[in-house]
Amino acid sequence: MIAQGASLSSKLDQISSHLKPLSYAVDANNNITIAGLKVKDLLTKYGSPLYILCEETIRTRARLYVNAFKEFYSGESLVIYASKALNCKAVCKIIDSEGLGIDVVSGGELFTALSVGFPKEKIIFHGNNKGKDELEMAIENQIGSIMLDNFYELELISELLREKFSVDTVVNLSIRVTPGIECHTHEYIKTGRIDSKFGFDLSQVDELISRILALKEKYKNINIKGLHAHIGSQIFETMPHNDVAGVLLNQYKSLKDKYGISLQDINVGGGLGIKYHEHDDPPEINDWVKVVADSIVANCKALNLDLPRVIVEPGRSIVGPAGITAYKVGNIKNIPNLRKFVAVDGGMADNVRHIMYQARYYAEVDGKIGDAKTEKVTIAGKFCESGDILIRDIDLPELNHDDVLVVYSTGAYNYSMASNYNRVRRPAMLLVNNGRADIIIRRETYEDVVQWDELPQSLS
Ligand SMILES: Cc1ncc(COP(=O)(O)O)c(C=O)c1O
Repeated sequence: MIAQGASLSSKLDQISSHLKPLSYAVDANNNITIAGLKVKDLLTKYGSPLYILCEETIRTRARLYVNAFKEFYSGESLVIYASKALNCKAVCKIIDSEGLGIDVVSGGELFTALSVGFPKEKIIFHGNNKGKDELEMAIENQIGSIMLDNFYELELISELLREKFSVDTVVNLSIRVTPGIECHTHEYIKTGRIDSKFGFDLSQVDELISRILALKEKYKNINIKGLHAHIGSQIFETMPHNDVAGVLLNQYKSLKDKYGISLQDINVGGGLGIKYHEHDDPPEINDWVKVVADSIVANCKALNLDLPRVIVEPGRSIVGPAGITAYKVGNIKNIPNLRKFVAVDGGMADNVRHIMYQARYYAEVDGKIGDAKTEKVTIAGKFCESGDILIRDIDLPELNHDDVLVVYSTGAYNYSMASNYNRVRRPAMLLVNNGRADIIIRRETYEDVVQWDELPQSLS
């Protein structure tokens, strides 16, 4: 663990230009090491493929967000880690120990956070179709905010209060709106525009407020805590978030004028992009935070509002670059004058982002760092889908069977989207720091894979 408040060296001012974990190094034999540990040795000990997570990178990135708000914003702020990027007990613990809150989007994510004692008041529950059982868990635990996404959800909350809770139950609600802001990102990960399955259209907010106020007549401890918008993911511009803050504060002003409501929180969501490839050039965390902070201050001044607590919800930009995945090379298929496929022992079940979003990744061959990149190859997975490709057309040194291929920036939305497709066992995840490696998610066994199967009596 690096010490709390450890000075962030000047190289961290450019952390967004990092494609690799902070503890990445190459030894004299061209072997890749993370946190002082040879990736090759880790693979021998823990098996392949293997997710490896650098603790120092997660903590440093989390701190950069927290410290940037301290530097640029004079009001209160709360950095909430969007745990859909990677949710497991160890990551929840690290995030809590850095003082961040957490955003969960399902009963499972909420359960995981609660199971390690995550402070309930710092949990926000998102989702466009939360189940009644999930809402019940959120109310029971009096979490920081249930992020209201639609009218149906309010009906379910009202039903639950009537059926299971006393009239003085505390229910903290925030409101997710679609601010109508488009950004340059992949179609499937745009969420802030009006044609979205998430959140309320701004024209619906008045109706929503009157329904909440009606419910509040009976349940006095319903609190309307804030407004939220999330406009997409892997965003390389800062201006959209400047605009989001403006839209939310104008909406806040209108609620204040019409209903006398004072909100605590303005939440501009997450979405800051990371470097997946050498040519990617995302903004620095510091610069992004400054844009958000400046916009809130300027809009509050113009609208004569007190500074709210600012909430941001980064996921990818905290854990993405902390993760690598190491694979072993197997079959190599050369189609003369067309393409060389190099297959590895994982693929779309441990990293679905290429097949889902055409995401691009960067990789290196362990032991061959610095060797001439003499081949253009396509890294294929082992799954029975032609689209199961990890990296299309990457220049690498010549690859042989049993070489170790290391793919970078796999900390976010890889394990969390992993599956047992083809009944494979999901890989283990290691947390590494200062020469120490701990398994934080154990490798599945074949017994794990069949554990939910039942044979009806007629077949047994
Ligand atoms: C509501 C919400 N907040 C935060 C995030 C995190 O986004 P990112 O991982 O791009 O920072 C997401 C991602 O989809 C989201 O839907």
